[in-house]
Amino acid sequence: MVGLQWGDEGKGQVVDYLSASFDVLVRYGGGANAGHTVTVGDTRLGLHLVPSGILHENVLCVIGNGVALDPEVLFEEIDALGARGVAVGDNLRISDRAHVVLPYHKLEDSLSEAALGQSAKIGTTGRGIGPCYSDKASRSNAIRVHHFIKPEVFRRRLIEIVERKNRIFAALYGADPLDAEAIYRKFSAYAERLAPFVCDTPDLLHRAIAAGKHVLFEGAQGSLLDVDHGTFPFVTSSNSGACGVSAGSGVPAQAIRTFLGVAKAYTTRVGGGAMPTELTDGIGQTIRERGREYGTTTGRPRRCGWFDGMATAYSVRLGGFNAVSIVGLNVLSEFETLNICVGYEVNGRKLEHFPSDPEVLEQARPILEPLRGWKQDVSGCSCWPELPTAAQEYLARIESLLGVPIIAVAVGPQRSQLLFRPS
Ligand code: IMP
Repeated sequence: MVGLQWGDEGKGQVVDYLSASFDVLVRYGGGANAGHTVTVGDTRLGLHLVPSGILHENVLCVIGNGVALDPEVLFEEIDALGARGVAVGDNLRISDRAHVVLPYHKLEDSLSEAALGQSAKIGTTGRGIGPCYSDKASRSNAIRVHHFIKPEVFRRRLIEIVERKNRIFAALYGADPLDAEAIYRKFSAYAERLAPFVCDTPDLLHRAIAAGKHVLFEGAQGSLLDVDHGTFPFVTSSNSGACGVSAGSGVPAQAIRTFLGVAKAYTTRVGGGAMPTELTDGIGQTIRERGREYGTTTGRPRRCGWFDGMATAYSVRLGGFNAVSIVGLNVLSEFETLNICVGYEVNGRKLEHFPSDPEVLEQARPILEPLRGWKQDVSGCSCWPELPTAAQEYLARIESLLGVPIIAVAVGPQRSQLLFRPS
């Protein structure tokens, strides 16, 4: 299950629903930059690393090798869950190949963003994600979980790396040096707590699949934030689209039967980069308020706009999705007329495909197709046929643009508000 837009598609609601019918739930990429809100009893909890399947008994949650693991955030979440009666123990497994996010990653994230000019800023979440994946790619500065849980190895690598980082940060940003020993003291305690969760997760998943278990892969961020296929450079640093599932989990592509894409009935984006259907007027504001479009991780207001059929269809093609779920239909209930973007124009010429060049995307004007709104509250609809005709027409138009069946639509955030299409 993968987001088809720029993240925040409401994947948490779909995962929450699906978890009940799966044995294993896998996070395969991203880190504490992701966020989903779960309700435990009377309280709402923001989770960033622990998969939301943790709330379901009998679901084994796996943090795969493709994840950038921030131990501080992980244990904050485990403790917050524990305080609300959700035990985290044998129901969580963490890859020994995952990379560890350390304080110098977060520092580098904020220093490098601050040093960029306004138009070049990526608008990162400040969670150290880019620097951690850079260290993964450049190898010698990386600390993987298997290093982290061996005290001597962790300490030796950490001291060497912090020394190199200090030299770089001082030269580039005039930053004060970090104290490797202080980091070691704090993080060796996390390492000790982490060790019992650690295993070879590809091996665990291969065995689970061989035993006929049902495995759900939970995407973080969205396809348009994918480092290779998204709107580079305004992307995250991992393969957050469907192409990241195998690399980030160690499960071969042919073992995956269904690719389910999740998109909102409109578009949101947080951070920098072009967004052709963005609405900076009152309509955008209405969508933001009705959809509560504020980031779970940073609290930033999300940019809101019409459904972008051009961008979303591109994501569908990239991931080979065979089914789509649309979230947040209720948010659009106010409008007399809705627009859907069916293509882009640059200098009066229609683009044949989604552009790779950010400058072209910046110039792209959406070709909007008006559709009639339904002007009625849909949040109480309890099944697909109860949806107003105009809402069904709206979904049908999205479906024709994406070329894959919409199998479910959410008319509100509750589990019961996810309506499956009668087959
Ligand atoms: P980073 O992943 O923190 O480096 O941020 C890179 C870009 O991805 C920024 O535009 C962020 O706003 C965006 N981003 C990262 N994670 C999420 C997410 O979970 N939802 C939406 N946007 C995200």
